Amino acid sequence: MPKILLLPGDGIGPEVVGACRQVLDELNRRHKLGLEFSEALVGGASIDANGLPLTDDVLALAKASDAVLLGAVGGPKWEALDYTIRPERALLGLRKELGLYANLRPAKLIDALVDASTLKREVVQGVDVMVVRELTGGIYFGTPRGVTVENGVRVGRNTLLYHDWEVERIARVGFELAQKRRKKMTSVDKANVLESTEMWRQVVHEVHKDYPDVELHDMYVDNAVMQLIRAPKQFDVIVTTNMFGDILSDAAAMLTGSIGMLPSASTGAHGGMYEPVHGSAPDIAGQGIANPLATILSAAMMLDIAFDMSRPARAIEAAVDRVLADGLRTKDLGGDLGTAAVTAAILERLEA
Ligand code: IPM
Ligand code: MG
Repeated sequence: MPKILLLPGDGIGPEVVGACRQVLDELNRRHKLGLEFSEALVGGASIDANGLPLTDDVLALAKASDAVLLGAVGGPKWEALDYTIRPERALLGLRKELGLYANLRPAKLIDALVDASTLKREVVQGVDVMVVRELTGGIYFGTPRGVTVENGVRVGRNTLLYHDWEVERIARVGFELAQKRRKKMTSVDKANVLESTEMWRQVVHEVHKDYPDVELHDMYVDNAVMQLIRAPKQFDVIVTTNMFGDILSDAAAMLTGSIGMLPSASTGAHGGMYEPVHGSAPDIAGQGIANPLATILSAAMMLDIAFDMSRPARAIEAAVDRVLADGLRTKDLGGDLGTAAVTAAILERLEA
C-alpha cells in the first residue's frame, strides 16, 4: 500500500492540501489505488505546537512514507524567529534529510490560460519548460555560514559550494529528461564570475558525452532570466544550481499565467516530496480563495513519479484542463471562484 504523508503547513497550505486530498480520495476510490494517508504538522504550525519547524517524529514519518505531499510553510507570525528555527528550515531539512537532490518544476502553459499571462500571447503560447533545480547543495547549504562580529564589524557569510558528484547527478537527471522531451538542455551558471559554477559547467560538459543525442547550451543566469521573459519557447530543459533554480522557477511560473499553477516534484533517494511552487500566501490565507491547482497537479506528479500510476495522473491533468477550458478560475487567474468551487469542478470532471 503506497503511504503518503500529508504536510499541509501554514497559510494557504491546509486549504490547498485539503482540496488535493479530496481529489486523491476520489481517485483512490474509483481506481482502487490503495493510497494510505497520514498527516502531520510542519513549519509554523509545528513551531506553535512543538517549538520546532520539523520534529524528529515528523522526519521519521516522512522517511517511512513512500511520498510526501506538502502545502507551504512560513508567514509573518514566525518571521522574527532566529533563522535556524524558522518555518523554512523544515522544508530545507526535509529536502536534505530525504536526499531529494533533484527538483523538477515544469512550467507548461495550459492553452486556456494563454491570456492569463502578463506576457503577450505569441510569446507564451506553447511554452513548455522543465526547470531542474539542484536542491540539496550550493549556497543554501554550504558552510561556513552565518552572521558574526569580526573586529567590531558585522559579517554575513554564505558559501556557494558544489562537489563534482553533485553536479554530475543533477546533470544526468536533466539529460535523461531532455531525452524524453525535445532533446535540448540549457545549463545555467555564472561561470564568468563564480569559480564554483565554472566547475559546474565543466562537469555538465563531461557528462554530456554520455548523452550525445541531447543538444547542450550554456547560459549565464542573468541572460537566462532575460531570455525566459523575451523568448521562453527556446527552452526545453533547464538545469541549474539551487539558488538560480529558485529564482528562475518563479520567473518561469509567471509564463504560465500564475504561480498558483506550478507543481513540483523533489526526487532522489526517497520516493519524493511533492509541493506547489508557490508559498503560504499569508495575505489570502483562510479566505477560501487560494488556487488549489498547483497542489493538485503536484499530486499528479506524485502518482506518476512515486507510484508509476500514470492513468490517474493523466485523469487529474485532463480534469484541470477541462476546468480551465470551461472558464472556471480562482482570483489569481482573473476568475471569481473560491478554492472549494474549483475543487468541486475538478471532481465533476474527473473522467469515469
Ligand atoms: C521554493 C521556496 C523555498 C526555497 C523557500 C520557502 C525556503 O522559495 O521552494 O522555491 O527557497 O527553496
Ligand atoms: Mg522559491
